Amino acid sequence: MRTLLLLSALACVALAKETFHGHQVLRIQAKDETQLSLLKDLEQMFEQLDFWRDVSDVSTPVDIRVPAEALGEVREYLDSWGISFETMIEDLQAVLDEEQQEMESAARFGEARNTDSFDYARYHPIAELYSFQDMLVAENPKLVSKIVIGQSYEGRPLTVLKFSTGGTDRPAIWIDTGIHSREWVTQASGTWFAKKIVNDYGKCPMLTAILDKMDIFLEIMTNPDGYAYTHSNNRMWRKTRKPNPGSSCVGVDPNRNWDAGFGGPGASSSPCSETFRGPRAHSESEVSSIVNFVKNHGNIKEFVSIHAYSQMLMYPYGYTRTPVKDQAELHALAQKAVSALTAVYGTRYRYGSIIDVIYQASGGTIDWTYNQGIKYSYTFELRDTGRYGFILPANQIVPTANETWAAMLELMTHAKNNP
Ligand SMILES: *[C@@H]1O[C@H](CO)[C@@H](O)[C@H](O)[C@H]1NC(C)=O
Ligand SMILES: [Zn+2]
Repeated sequence: MRTLLLLSALACVALAKETFHGHQVLRIQAKDETQLSLLKDLEQMFEQLDFWRDVSDVSTPVDIRVPAEALGEVREYLDSWGISFETMIEDLQAVLDEEQQEMESAARFGEARNTDSFDYARYHPIAELYSFQDMLVAENPKLVSKIVIGQSYEGRPLTVLKFSTGGTDRPAIWIDTGIHSREWVTQASGTWFAKKIVNDYGKCPMLTAILDKMDIFLEIMTNPDGYAYTHSNNRMWRKTRKPNPGSSCVGVDPNRNWDAGFGGPGASSSPCSETFRGPRAHSESEVSSIVNFVKNHGNIKEFVSIHAYSQMLMYPYGYTRTPVKDQAELHALAQKAVSALTAVYGTRYRYGSIIDVIYQASGGTIDWTYNQGIKYSYTFELRDTGRYGFILPANQIVPTANETWAAMLELMTHAKNNP
């Protein structure tokens, strides 16, 4: 009996949600190259730091989640080198508690029975997103279908919504959200997009013209194991959930796992890093399933992979300074899409190639898709610029999705009208 009690107590500990009491998010502003490299050293010195926004250049601040026990040393380090910083989030757990409370009070109304009563202005656990997809398909059988492109490490189906008005072998647009699981506003925006498409087909001339010529594929839960884990265990989870042999650290960064500059600078070879590239390119089924889908389809014309946060729209490359040969066209289109986005609520975005706008990153999704011949390869970083970071309040979901959709319409229309 004693052993049994002890065992169940242990089980409770193992199942407990990770808490972040006293964790702070510091915003650090390097003023020159020396300070930038001192921040890179910091990353090496303290393995427990979580870089919400990595070191890039002097125009972009670095955001770091610092556990309570490391705060003293980190502040001391920054002060001793004269690096300026401010506290963006005083106590991360307090913000997470607020988010959790909001979710729980909304959940009291029960699960939606159809996609009209679905609450787009809140965050949903994974089961509700799966049932949302099934309801949408059931309600719109002529326009929407669901395909399964593979299985996650933990055995969840990797589901993709297909929006099609007919035809065979139509050119297609791909959109994915949530490849980094903690970027909750992305899965929520993907959900809103899905409903927006069925609402607007036949009403919005721009969308109707797109769907009359092209199919849209939308993967909302691109990293479902990670997303489930952000709800059950650790809100800050970013990677996949596959164990790494020989390490106690779990998961691979699925946006460093693609076969495009794989293993180069801007990705880590350490399994404990948030940017661990994995044992080999396409080692993660969440990635290889998309690779196989894209290759088998053979006619994807545009590929848009959606992240948060920072408010940026980017095109390849991330792994090399060599500009893509379509740079001029991709840049002009990014500008057009961003101005449509800004026109909705005034939200400001930066745009350009990944390596110019953020930093060198190897093994990224859209570098691979571009090299596959998908000219219109883009990636978004949605709201905000760091006030809340990954914990964007749910009342910003619908405005974020709405403004992003304005940009998406520009991107999709251009892909429809151009080779
Ligand atoms: C989305 O933005 C448009 C303007 O582009 C506005 O007319 C519309 O009301 C907004 N929709 C929602 C749901 O906020
Ligand atoms: Zn991301």
